[in-house]
Amino acid sequence: MQLTAATTTILLLCASVASAATPTASISFAVPTYTNPVTWVKTKYNMGKMSRALSVSNRQEYGRLYDPSNDWTVYRDGGGSCTLNNRTFYVFCDTTGYKASGALGGFATSSLSVVEDFSNPTLLKDASLSSSVGYFSPIPFTTTEASYSNSKRYAFWTYTNCVQLSETSAAHFFNVQKYSSSSSNSYVGNTIANYAIDTTANKISITRDTKIAFNTSTYNYGGFANLVVNGAVYLYALDKTYSSNYDVHVASVPVAKFGDSSYYQYWDASTSTWSYTAPQPTARRQSSAAIKGTEPFSSGSMYYSEYHNQYFLVFFNNWVDSTFRAITAPTPLGPWNVTNTVIWKTTPGKSYNYGGVAHPVYDQTPGSTVGQYIDVHWSYQDTNGTYPKIGRIDFT
Ligand SMILES: *[C@@H]1O[C@H](CO)[C@@H](O)[C@H](O)[C@H]1NC(C)=O
Ligand SMILES: *[C@@H]1O[C@H](CO)[C@@H](O)[C@H](O)[C@H]1NC(C)=O
Ligand SMILES: *[C@@H]1O[C@H](CO)[C@@H](O)[C@H](O)[C@H]1NC(C)=O
Ligand SMILES: *[C@@H]1O[C@H](CO)[C@@H](O)[C@H](O)[C@H]1NC(C)=O
Repeated sequence: MQLTAATTTILLLCASVASAATPTASISFAVPTYTNPVTWVKTKYNMGKMSRALSVSNRQEYGRLYDPSNDWTVYRDGGGSCTLNNRTFYVFCDTTGYKASGALGGFATSSLSVVEDFSNPTLLKDASLSSSVGYFSPIPFTTTEASYSNSKRYAFWTYTNCVQLSETSAAHFFNVQKYSSSSSNSYVGNTIANYAIDTTANKISITRDTKIAFNTSTYNYGGFANLVVNGAVYLYALDKTYSSNYDVHVASVPVAKFGDSSYYQYWDASTSTWSYTAPQPTARRQSSAAIKGTEPFSSGSMYYSEYHNQYFLVFFNNWVDSTFRAITAPTPLGPWNVTNTVIWKTTPGKSYNYGGVAHPVYDQTPGSTVGQYIDVHWSYQDTNGTYPKIGRIDFT
């Protein structure tokens, strides 16, 4: 995330407030009842040939993605979406709310907001940071993480969508960042937040089984993107350390064994083999990567486009050009056609947009052809702060 001098001060203040909260790796809280019916499209593993060329007919910016009923003005960045029991919600990164007086309302390292209406895409209902619910991190801290204070704190950031395990369960990967001072943080691995909704009590429960899922000795599987195809989860990782974000590596696990690390397998494209042992890279392994990018990746999400009969990765590159691009493949393992197509050059604010992610779920409504259009969101840097914007891309 981008830190200005002003936000740094606020993070300092708030981290000390947050340490007073009850530490836990499990949380349950009220979730607004807005539903938008989704029909999940079924795919087979190999889609074969793309059924139509990739081209865009229309782009439309809807504006700020926010909750107009929240008296606080909310700034935040990153984030991805998820759908459980036909309720679609976003989880964003570091979130700050200001009262009308300009005073600080609250700060948390993540925030959760429910989508009110697919046909009114800017509308959210804040569930974890608002004048009415107060503020807390919906991605729960362990006791140790919560005990850090002042400028030392843990942060959970995501720049992609959850792993949609079923219509009623999902898991979301978050990068765990550890701040040693207000301005210095390092990546220590990623963590998995498991989501479930109790539709009678209207509560969401979020649990973390382990503090770290994949640490720095291997790749950040699930941190970049994911696909769920034919009962298998594919978890994509960017090799930031050795490839400077050009290479994407992949792991896979059966949906039914998602929580069991002994079932995870790791793909080596150079030999076309899976191994139960996670690689421990000491150098770039480009030939082993499932995607060998021609540009460095930054953020994105993957989905199956029924409209194109192909898998898509919609992404922002690492060149801060505020541009959505897409690449495609017939199977989750490829071959990925890495000649990308620019699908939308968005308008930046005071500085570049980042954290671009596609949300085909807005098009996953009964009777529609999934992938004919996608809603996308990104982090927009205004002079006052950073907040998400949302828009729509229609394909030809
Ligand atoms: C979601 O909505 C669809 C369409 O109305 C319906 O078929 C499906 O059963 C719903 N799923 C859940 C989990 O409620
Ligand atoms: C990372 O995790 C592996 C497997 O659990 C463990 O053996 C290793 O010590 C860990 N490394 C670091 C740097 O935490
Ligand atoms: C790869 O994608 C580009 C951009 O959409 C397209 O022009 C090209 O024909 C594709 N190549 C193949 C082999 O399909
Ligand atoms: C920035 O905040 C000020 C004070 O709240 C407000 O008047 C102004 O409209 C905001 N600017 C933008 C671009 O949102």
